[in-house]
Amino acid sequence: MERLLITGQVPLRGEIDVHGAKNSSLPLLAATVLCHGETVLHNCPELSDVTAACEILSYLGCKVRREGRTVAVDARNLSGGSVPDSLMREMRSSIVFLGAIAARMGYAKLSFPGGCELGPRPIDLHLHALRKLGLSIREEHGVLDCTVSGRMQGANLTLSFPSVGATENILLAAATAEGTTVLTNAAREPEITDLADFLNRCGAKIHGAGEGVITIEGVDRLEACEHTVIPDRIVAATYLCCAAATGGDVRIRQAEPRHLAGILPVFEEMGCRLDVEKTAVRLTAPEGRLRAVRDVRTMPYPGFPTDAQAPVMAAAALADGNSIFVENIFESRYKHAAELARMGARIKLEGRVALVEGVPRLYGAPVAATDLRGGAALIVAGLAAEGETEIRDIKHIDRGYERIEECLAPLGANIRRAE
Ligand code: UD1
Repeated sequence: MERLLITGQVPLRGEIDVHGAKNSSLPLLAATVLCHGETVLHNCPELSDVTAACEILSYLGCKVRREGRTVAVDARNLSGGSVPDSLMREMRSSIVFLGAIAARMGYAKLSFPGGCELGPRPIDLHLHALRKLGLSIREEHGVLDCTVSGRMQGANLTLSFPSVGATENILLAAATAEGTTVLTNAAREPEITDLADFLNRCGAKIHGAGEGVITIEGVDRLEACEHTVIPDRIVAATYLCCAAATGGDVRIRQAEPRHLAGILPVFEEMGCRLDVEKTAVRLTAPEGRLRAVRDVRTMPYPGFPTDAQAPVMAAAALADGNSIFVENIFESRYKHAAELARMGARIKLEGRVALVEGVPRLYGAPVAATDLRGGAALIVAGLAAEGETEIRDIKHIDRGYERIEECLAPLGANIRRAE
């Protein structure tokens, strides 16, 4: 089992590039199922979740070529609409394949994605919307058996919560439906806009992505095209946390600062200086300790993202004063708190609220990544801590960060991977 070994207390300095967004790449790969011809996606990160999505595509009969960060998918010979349980379980967000496969094949057979480290992950909003678009869904023995007679049918849909995954499934199912779909209370995350931009380039007619109401005029067919995945805003936020927690000065390149609008004010509140350029952000940590943050409430975009909560909490653990976090998206998203406590952090949990009493110093310790962003929090803490931190279960971290130790080392971080 691989581990990450970090010797902390080195202020990070220099420049670092952000890779493409995992949370955009996965729905884009699902979207390739709808396209005639060969789709080429650039800036697709080399992550285990992307590998899992490519395996699903190959299983369905697509020809998949992957060279570095470029993935080419030819869905011409798509031969099946079922995804085996083993592949569904490798990646929680594999449910986003449902809308695309059903629209292309007229049927889909997928196992339930089940719960995950963050708690239950219901898909009722996805299923309710897809049923309204004409999909008949039988749920039996953990399997979703779905059929549609003819094409999917456009409909007026309203989400009771702006679910990212449900919005993606609706875009994929409705893009080639008969008639127009109007989706109210849609998710507004940049990953939704990226998916809609891609589909529109393939010939779809989607208006309003990035806003609360999206209109999708169904088209007969989509033609494959080339597309570049947007930068990963959560990876960018994680690097900012590493710079802030270590008292560093780091310029983050190939980023999209507009997508960080809900996050950047938190770093300013902590006393960091930010220089925002068109595609870069430089963070200079304050002399002395970070300041506490009044409260960080996770919200749908453009609010503060749930995915940045854990790494920011690791930085706040070292701040001067008490910080309050309120997690509004997932119910069990504080598992990292117990691991940070092993390093000396003082965090009190009460349901969705975490009170972080800042301490002057964290100490290296053996810890385990509990989930993807919880693992990122341990890296932030380890880089700032006195002594050596050993992080186990780093498979979680590898799901979302491309060879993180190789990215951070040029900034002066003392971090390496060991068997
Ligand atoms: C969520 C995040 C997304 C992040 C991703 C990966 C939000 C709004 N979404 O997207 O930014 O990139 O995790 O960590 O922050 N829900 C239901 N029924 C459903 C679907 C969702 O009740 O059918 C609930 C979930 O339990 C959760 C909330 O809605 O409380 C957000 O879910 P959703 O946006 O769908 O989650 P993801 O698509 O996984």
